[in-house]
Amino acid sequence: MNTTTLDAPAPAPTLLAATGPAAPQRKPGALDWAPVNYDLRDTWFPVSHSRDVVAQPIRRIIHAQAYFLWRDGSGVACAAEFRPDQMSAKRHLASAFTGGSGLYPVIERYGYIWAWYGNPEHADVLLIPHIPFVPLDGSLPGYTQRTVRFDASSALSVENLIDLTHADFLHAGTIGDGTADADVVEVEWTSETVTRTRMVTNKSVAPIMRWIGGVRAKFQDFRAVLHIHLRSNVCISYPRFRPGYDVPNVQPFVPVGSYRSRCDVTFNTTAAPAPFRYVMPRINYVIQPQDNSVVRPQSPRYFDPTERADLHSRFDKPGNRYRLQMEQLAARQRRGDFAYGSDAEPNRDIRSLLGMDS
Ligand SMILES: [Fe+2]
Repeated sequence: MNTTTLDAPAPAPTLLAATGPAAPQRKPGALDWAPVNYDLRDTWFPVSHSRDVVAQPIRRIIHAQAYFLWRDGSGVACAAEFRPDQMSAKRHLASAFTGGSGLYPVIERYGYIWAWYGNPEHADVLLIPHIPFVPLDGSLPGYTQRTVRFDASSALSVENLIDLTHADFLHAGTIGDGTADADVVEVEWTSETVTRTRMVTNKSVAPIMRWIGGVRAKFQDFRAVLHIHLRSNVCISYPRFRPGYDVPNVQPFVPVGSYRSRCDVTFNTTAAPAPFRYVMPRINYVIQPQDNSVVRPQSPRYFDPTERADLHSRFDKPGNRYRLQMEQLAARQRRGDFAYGSDAEPNRDIRSLLGMDS
């Protein structure tokens, strides 16, 4: 990693395209995917819930890069490579991620502290995703926010989330099984995002809605939109159950490392009745171990290049599209191209994309 000092602000620090583990070498022609290697730069990561950042510093990790977070005397959030009391002593060790200053670009929005990962000169507030169901100032009750962790890379965790059909068996006890009259999955994408929409007609009612949501029907229509920002793994999800409730949620899979992702989730259930409103965000503690039981044993297999090719289905359009878009973005960054394409607009209004207006 390049370093520079403040006293000698000479060569502009440059970021190498890939400092993570080398891509495993596979057999020529093998259709394969190794989600351990995506180290995508020039993006904002929601590294922490706002409420967790106080005067006393905390530490977060993005791709093995340390982020110390705290609030200064005015309450403004700071993000740095070093603890505040060690800043002057260690500043000469500051990396290109902070342009040698030790301080990352940082913005507080939607109840998160967003820190920049990449070339600090490229940090732009317009690159923060639009999250239409969370107030800009993040003013939601504490019960909407939870933290879960996955023993897998962020890309593998996201890929599991894309495959919403997995919920029908893995989470059948809480969200409902696969019984339905019709089940339609669509996918659309840009160079920076993939959006998967699943529409299910007359699905078995989600047990959690019957138990504590007051929904008496046996079946319900279900529409779930998942909008994924590829560089940051920020997943903006809008499930709508009718009869039932909307459960809009943010699941940002922050890449701690090849084996670990951290997800500071926000479930805005404030419009739903009690006790569903309070219990639904806690369902993460039921669902996370179920998801982790799948991705945890999967994860290490991607580190061994001698193993068989990955056997994903060619009928899994959203999953395949996610892999392809991630590969294209990674290939661009390996060539040194970190720019956002004209189709990208990470902050574009996604209300109608999420089906909020319908
Ligand atoms: Fe799941």
